[in-house]
Amino acid sequence: MEISAPKEWFALLDVLTEEKGMAILLGGTDTGKTTLANFLIFNLCRRGLRIALVDADIGQSTLGPPATIGLAQFKSDPDWGVVLSPAEIFFVGVATPEGHFPLHLKGVKRMVDRAIFYATDLILVDTTGFISGEAGKELKRRKIDLISPRFILALQKCDELEPILELYQENPLYRIYRLPLSEKVRPRSMEERRINRANKFRDYFKDSIIHELAIEEVRIEGEVLDPSGSPIPLDWALRINGILIGLKDGNDETLALALARNYLEVKKVVRVSTPLRDIQRVRTIQLSSLKVIPLYEEERF
Ligand SMILES: Nc1ncnc2c1ncn2[C@@H]1O[C@H](COP(=O)(O)OP(=O)(O)OP(=O)(O)O)[C@@H](O)[C@H]1O
Ligand SMILES: [Mg+2]
Repeated sequence: MEISAPKEWFALLDVLTEEKGMAILLGGTDTGKTTLANFLIFNLCRRGLRIALVDADIGQSTLGPPATIGLAQFKSDPDWGVVLSPAEIFFVGVATPEGHFPLHLKGVKRMVDRAIFYATDLILVDTTGFISGEAGKELKRRKIDLISPRFILALQKCDELEPILELYQENPLYRIYRLPLSEKVRPRSMEERRINRANKFRDYFKDSIIHELAIEEVRIEGEVLDPSGSPIPLDWALRINGILIGLKDGNDETLALALARNYLEVKKVVRVSTPLRDIQRVRTIQLSSLKVIPLYEEERF
């Protein structure tokens, strides 16, 4: 894709090259946040910087499948495919942060801390377009307070980010850049977004194999809620073909995602399909209420 960049985007390259650190990208849906992140990665890698991208957009993910927070390091343009490490993921289990702030924020913090550990020159945090109302403002405020990015890169059509930005305006720890949107921004319909998520899941699970997990040998976190919000008993929940689950190791790290296939009650074993080969490392399974059906189109159970 040809990126068309306003001149302010180029000025930002100089500032980030000079100062380095961490930048969070804020903006409503379809404001060009991800494109700006790609523009920065492409141009700053050409200047020799090493960059970590934390993809906190759990709906329209670019790193890893939906419902996860992704992390990758780059030393070249993402399209060239040269990353320093494969994308790491943190399973959140929902495709929108509303009602799930604590887990979403825990994942962002986890991935940002890891990016800091990798000591890249710049950490970019791409976010969801959920900015409206008190909830949107609160999520972004908590995220900024948690990770303390030096730069806040704001893409706004009008002044919709101002309620968030005003909280940091006078604080010398933060530098706010209000950036114009590109005229080339193309809004995506709900349907396009849903298909995009379905394609991401299909890609992710394409080389899956079936494993059996003894449920008495793993810790079980979370629950599967029915459409009215009531928890479904575990042995029923595990029978739902396509329930999305996270497979975690003993350090609470997400190893991979899996889809529940069926539950063998006598053996107390759940059969799952997952691209993970080394199933012995799984210590915890984290349930979700997302169901990824055979065409890999997810729906709320
Ligand atoms: N600077 C640009 N030059 C060319 N095309 C652009 C540019 N910015 C955005 N677009 C187009 O608009 C679409 C939406 O942009 P993008 O995905 O970057 O927005 P976003 O704010 O990350 O959206 P979301 O809220 O879904 O995460 C892109 O697929 C791309 O086609
Ligand atoms: Mg985006």
